[in-house]
Amino acid sequence: MKKHEIIEKNVGLMALFMVIAVSIGGLVQIVPLFFQDVTNTPVEGMKPYTALQLEGRDIYIREGCVGCHSQMIRPFRAETERYGHYSVAGESVWDHPFLWGSKRTGPDLARVGGRYSDDWHRAHLYNPRNVVPESKMPAYPWLVENSLDGKDTATKLRAMQQLGVPYSDEDVAGAQAAVKGKTEMDALVAYLQVLGTSLKSKR
Ligand code: HEC
Repeated sequence: MKKHEIIEKNVGLMALFMVIAVSIGGLVQIVPLFFQDVTNTPVEGMKPYTALQLEGRDIYIREGCVGCHSQMIRPFRAETERYGHYSVAGESVWDHPFLWGSKRTGPDLARVGGRYSDDWHRAHLYNPRNVVPESKMPAYPWLVENSLDGKDTATKLRAMQQLGVPYSDEDVAGAQAAVKGKTEMDALVAYLQVLGTSLKSKR
């Protein structure tokens, strides 16, 4: 029996060799990404989210916005003409977890910051039909009623700090005061308005 035939006739052995072959491919592609400057250096001038923006990001996660909105502009003309400069890895280095998403029921939001006014976002999130009559996005009216007490905000910043986000100890100390009394709507809009703005100048 030829050596190759032994493998072909033994499913267990075949599976083992397949796993080894695929792993090598994966390792060669993925491991270098952890060490390349282009993937782990923040884009120039990028600032970490403020305490309020970080709270807004958590509301974005809680409300499942990522289930309908991606935050990843691919480097294709159809996308860059519509949304702006394609997304680069350096914009996401402080996002834990990143929210690139993969489902686009609604438009990509990677560069939505500054595209609309705060008032537009408030009206839209309160009830999308107020500003986009044909919209099928859900309404989030409770965001204006819920206010933040900020009791966990400092801990959230501290956790980000440990993951390498350059917050100063003053940022952490002032985190609660920075969000206390603000509504969830304030926080979410603050977050949306900063999305993609660190690269906007290169658009
Ligand atoms: C069920 C899918 C769905 C969910 C969930 C959803 N959206 Fe949308 N969203 C849409 C659709 C569809 C549109 C396009 C119509 C419109 O503008 O309302 C849209 C549009 C938007 C826009 C305008 C984008 C642009 O460039 O015009 C923003 C901003 C937005 N959504 C934010 C959010 C946020 C924040 C959340 C979570 C609180 C959310 N969406 C949840 C479907 C969704």
